[in-house]
Amino acid sequence: MAVSAWRIEQWPVREQPEELLAELYAARALLHAEATPDDPRLPLADDIAALRHLPGNEDGVVLVARDPAGVIAGFSSCGWEDIPGLNHVLWTDVAVLPDARRHGLGSLLLGESVAVAEHRGLRLMMGRSRANVPSGEAFCRRFGAEQAMVGRENRLDLRAVDRDLVARWVADGPARAPGYRLEFVAGRTPAELMDRVAEVFNVMNTAPRENMDISDVAVTPELVRSTEDARLAVGDQLWAYYAVEQSTGRFVGLTNITIRPGTPDRVHVGDTGVHAAHRGHALGKWLKAAITKRILAELPEVRWVITWNAGSNDAMLGINDQLGFRTAAVSTTWQIATDRLRSGLGTAAGAR
Ligand SMILES: CC(C)(COP(=O)(O)OP(=O)(O)OC[C@H]1O[C@@H](n2cnc3c(N)ncnc32)[C@H](O)[C@@H]1OP(=O)(O)O)[C@@H](O)C(=O)NCCC(=O)NCCS
Repeated sequence: MAVSAWRIEQWPVREQPEELLAELYAARALLHAEATPDDPRLPLADDIAALRHLPGNEDGVVLVARDPAGVIAGFSSCGWEDIPGLNHVLWTDVAVLPDARRHGLGSLLLGESVAVAEHRGLRLMMGRSRANVPSGEAFCRRFGAEQAMVGRENRLDLRAVDRDLVARWVADGPARAPGYRLEFVAGRTPAELMDRVAEVFNVMNTAPRENMDISDVAVTPELVRSTEDARLAVGDQLWAYYAVEQSTGRFVGLTNITIRPGTPDRVHVGDTGVHAAHRGHALGKWLKAAITKRILAELPEVRWVITWNAGSNDAMLGINDQLGFRTAAVSTTWQIATDRLRSGLGTAAGAR
């Protein structure tokens, strides 16, 4: 099909009508079958709810490509965050349905996405490909994007987990970390804990970012609250454990998970970290074991605990490997300067 045969619509992410979201959901079924055939899909209603409750500091546009019959052939989801450290990036997810590939539609959508970045003054574009869908990597390389981070999706199968090991790590916690205790929080962070919770979230700035051209994010109570409220509004359940230094009451470590009602057989781990000054007391193991024990006790429907880790995060991977997490998928984050991609696209289009 000639490149000019496609029509591209642009929708502000918050203004997408339900009919469009239903069409996109149906189109995504083929991409889901290609990338994650063994995983359940989140129901459409959950997708819609998430979009209707986006945190105030997140926004974006969706570019939808239709063929001459009006059927969706591909799209590009472009998102940005009004958060210092990240507010120079356009996160771009270009997808073309399998039957429409290798006719230049991906390039066309990418070109339109560059225009979005230019319009908003975003100097960097980032996207992600999965190792089991090699077209994504080939496409990113074609336009000169560089590898920014390689991440692993690791999963713990609770049907096979070593419950004795979990119990031992929980029991060892106070012995290996005297002077610390754990605090459990379910749901909305109580106001009286919020300053300490926001402070401990900053430990995530010490997690490896590999080559990603982003900076530290100053996590404030407002940022934690807006993210948390957006997720609670869509019906997600949030659990967190914090490691507390008893002499000061300071929160020095955390781990948290999200439970989505639409996929009750799995929970997703968010952040896990321990402040550098408090490492070496096995607080990371204690936190991970405590939350695993609670999931086993209180969420019998859950089979999978799913987490994303940088491939270079030896400390985190070490704990996860011992607990029984195994790699289920590998993904690469790509990045390229917006102006470089603009010149590259010129060359690619010219070569066609
Ligand atoms: C990546 C994707 C969007 C490309 O869409 P497309 O419409 O096929 O892309 P184009 O036709 O514009 O391809 C542009 C160039 O990328 C490269 N390319 C794309 N797919 C490729 C593949 N499967 N193998 C090798 N090179 C590939 C080629 O150089 C191609 O130019 P050519 O066809 O003249 O050789 C599509 O394959 C897809 O949806 N993949 C799954 C989702 C994904 O991984 N997205 C990337 C997110 S960053």
